[in-house]
Amino acid sequence: AQTVPFYGTRQAGITTPQQERLMFAALDVTSTDVQDVQRLLGRWAALAARFTAGRPVSDSPGNPDAPPFDTGEAMDSGPYSLTITVGFGASLFDDRFGLADRRPAALAPLGTIPGDAVMKPAITGGDLCIQACADDPQVVFHAIRNMVRAARGTAVLRWSQLGFGRASATGAGQTTPRNLFGFRDGTNNIHADDTGGLDQHVWVSGSDQRWMDDGSYLVARKIRMEIESWDTDDLADQQRIFGRRKDTGAPLTGGTEFTPIDFHRTGADGVPVIDPHSHVRLASPEANGGVRLLRRGYNYTDGQDPDTGKLAAGLFFLSYQRDPHAQFKVLQTRLGKSDLMNEYIAHIGGGVWACPPGVRQAGDWFGRSLF
Ligand code: HEM
Repeated sequence: AQTVPFYGTRQAGITTPQQERLMFAALDVTSTDVQDVQRLLGRWAALAARFTAGRPVSDSPGNPDAPPFDTGEAMDSGPYSLTITVGFGASLFDDRFGLADRRPAALAPLGTIPGDAVMKPAITGGDLCIQACADDPQVVFHAIRNMVRAARGTAVLRWSQLGFGRASATGAGQTTPRNLFGFRDGTNNIHADDTGGLDQHVWVSGSDQRWMDDGSYLVARKIRMEIESWDTDDLADQQRIFGRRKDTGAPLTGGTEFTPIDFHRTGADGVPVIDPHSHVRLASPEANGGVRLLRRGYNYTDGQDPDTGKLAAGLFFLSYQRDPHAQFKVLQTRLGKSDLMNEYIAHIGGGVWACPPGVRQAGDWFGRSLF
């Protein structure tokens, strides 16, 4: 069972090679006292330091006449590369806590983007978020469960999401996994060894709010995938939608998985080999003035949709960037308008959170630079 260091200049769980499992939680603060929020972020830092080292809430067995300190289900597990990443939603900067003048411009609401029409309020937003990733499902569940428990009296769970089968590669040398459409996902991602790319596109530096230096903005989207209709689409059309081969992940213009895509190539009929409305073309830096972001999503299923009888499944899209307006919004505006994939997907929830710099050592806490 591997350990990912918790303390550092930057939070783990962003460029950490992607683990296999996710639990994500969005919380709302119920207290109106900013000191309660600070104390909570301190408790969370102490807990995260322990959980990521494979330790329980407390070393003390506790009093037999009181509920145990730790809920216990990860007692024999080890850390399994657990990372805990915390973020602040725009709503934390409203009138309640006197933080309005510390809200970064990058956290201003994104407004309505094409494809957003069915975002459900019950699974959207939240004052705080916690992303727990590990190579074991019970370890991520334990971390979120106990952090939500530690929030009692200050914040309550608003919504949460389990994810399995990482749907992106972020680590240098990680093999590219597959999403629930069966395609390799994460080929043209920003990889962990590309430190220049990460500094340019992911880590905040010198923005209007210096407390965000070494932080990053998380944009999450719960994207339902219409799996039953996708499964009736022929292979050639599936490949046209992505612009890549389903088996190898290679671009339709040839080569192997990591061969650059040739957007200018035309077939004998004069038609572009990569459809101009394919997902890779519309999302590419070439089509968006060089814009990129770090993808870190997970496949999900919530079982069966009781209303339709279909599988409720899709992609829990997680992306990190310096500025959601200049990156996610630009890409999603283009994709939402004319991505061939739109016939098979719907954005149903999500949110934007400012993930502050890392917790530097024991006694430091999430977002100390903000308060
Ligand atoms: C590329 C799947 C949503 C941004 C890809 C690729 C696949 C894929 C299979 C090609 C392999 C790769 O380079 O990773 C999906 C699915 C989605 C989804 C199934 C929804 C269910 C999104 C969204 C965004 C996005 C919402 C951003 C707003 C990108 C980018 C690339 C990409 C930037 C790389 C393009 C390039 O430079 O070649 N996606 N994607 N995707 N996707 Fe998505």
